[in-house]
Amino acid sequence: MLTCIPEVLTKAQVAHCREVMRQAEWEDGRVTAGTVAAAVKNNFQLPQTSKLAAELGDIVMDALSSSPLFVSAALPLRILPPMFNRYGVGQTFGVHVDNAIRSVPGTPVRIRTDLSATLFLAEPDEYDGGDLVIETSYGGHEIKLPAGDLVLYPATSLHCVTPITRGERVGSFFWIQSMIRDDGQRAILYDLDQTIQDLQAERGAEDASAVRLSGIYHNLIRQWAET
Ligand code: NI
Repeated sequence: MLTCIPEVLTKAQVAHCREVMRQAEWEDGRVTAGTVAAAVKNNFQLPQTSKLAAELGDIVMDALSSSPLFVSAALPLRILPPMFNRYGVGQTFGVHVDNAIRSVPGTPVRIRTDLSATLFLAEPDEYDGGDLVIETSYGGHEIKLPAGDLVLYPATSLHCVTPITRGERVGSFFWIQSMIRDDGQRAILYDLDQTIQDLQAERGAEDASAVRLSGIYHNLIRQWAET
């Protein structure tokens, strides 16, 4: 399942992140890539352990936890602290798959990457190229979203960022271990949750069918969730 989540950050939050990023020291993006991905990765990122990355990461994490759509689609168990990258003209990230396991820096915590997320921090008209292309069973999807919007996709997908031909693409990226490991099961739960919300909007939260469906939703989570 590929889910676009609009307005995770407000334009004011985006502007603040951009301002902080302008003052930051950047490092070669290859330092956090696995061997295969490093061969096709050409960008810059904020050092994972830098104070600025942590400060910006907190803004993103707060926004995620208050986004009902993100929580519904990801059903997160653990989220790797968000990282930040920038691509200038000629830079790109060739086709790759993300590492299955990632360590939270400075801790013994490891997460299984069920979902990958990209949060766009530049407006689409600021740069040419730089599409996130995600291969799915229905073909390739080219994603370029307004600043502040996020795309969530299965970390099992082959994906790439096409070369930048004008301007600069900045963004945040991170991984999520979901309570629901299986993408198909997670998609069913997302669909069910959205249907319940539509029903409640139409008939009120007390509607008997919506309450029963909500019970089914939680029972499926009991069946499937890892906590
Ligand atoms: Ni990737």
